[in-house]
Amino acid sequence: MSYSFLLTRREGRVEYLTLNRPDVRNAFNEDLIAELTTWAERTGRERTARVVVLGGAGKMFSAGADVEWMSRMVGRSQEENFQDARAMARMFSALDSLPLPLVGRVHGAALGGGCGLAAVCDIVVAEDTAEFGFTEVKLGILPAVIAPYALAKIGPSAARELFLTGSRFSASRARDIGLVHAVVPAGELEATVDAFVNALLTSAPEAMAAAKRLIGEIRYLKTDQAVDLTARTIAERRVSAEGQEGLHAFLEKRKARWTGT
Ligand code: COA
Repeated sequence: MSYSFLLTRREGRVEYLTLNRPDVRNAFNEDLIAELTTWAERTGRERTARVVVLGGAGKMFSAGADVEWMSRMVGRSQEENFQDARAMARMFSALDSLPLPLVGRVHGAALGGGCGLAAVCDIVVAEDTAEFGFTEVKLGILPAVIAPYALAKIGPSAARELFLTGSRFSASRARDIGLVHAVVPAGELEATVDAFVNALLTSAPEAMAAAKRLIGEIRYLKTDQAVDLTARTIAERRVSAEGQEGLHAFLEKRKARWTGT
């Protein structure tokens, strides 16, 4: 499948996905949103990749939602506005629930919805000079559809400060609040992303998908519900073909062979 605003490249089991609207700093409008949603749903369904690396073409990762697109919506009905915003919410949800690891490679800046894209990544590596910001309030709007994912990463306390001030903050602050996992000089960005990718490639694909699902589900559960869900999950996994392969490989002192997807 070919896309107009996304670049996709497959190297072995790694899919490199690049936002490609560099002239507007990879701001996403309805077209890019539709393509990202299609890509996420398809990649999740096909499961031919093991790991995805998400980055941005040109000067930066992403300047968030396209301001020109949002300003145009004043001419639409309330229902049309809602459906349009829902499409963006569905894109974030599809990326967040991707059943394979998503590694964010952030250079330049991640602003507004760009921070939302970082928030739906499992691992984010950022250049030390990259700038972050939930800047929406400076435009008279707010970080709404990204809120569930941003809050799950940075928590309500940092969100109260950063959602309300709209202030831009450094990569090291982003790491301190949990939005970013590694901050490195520009020259080390690729190598650091590769190191995470290589670690992920040795993990069992179905186990990683189950772990992602569990992380998503568990935060809404009460302790007694969590007891049942976690017990059921490990009970299933340890007798699965993949679980058996991993456990036996360790006992037999050999590398596990993941077939799965
Ligand atoms: N939506 C639409 N267009 C955007 C955009 C956005 N979110 N962010 C940047 N652009 C456009 C600019 O309007 C400009 O277009 P032009 O060349 O037609 O004038 C182009 O991208 C380059 O932007 P510019 O500001 O000249 O580049 P820069 O590299 O100096 O700065 C940013 C880039 C992203 C730091 C700056 O544009 C910015 O702060 N943008 C707003 C980001 C934001 O608040 N996002 C939240 C949206 S909810």
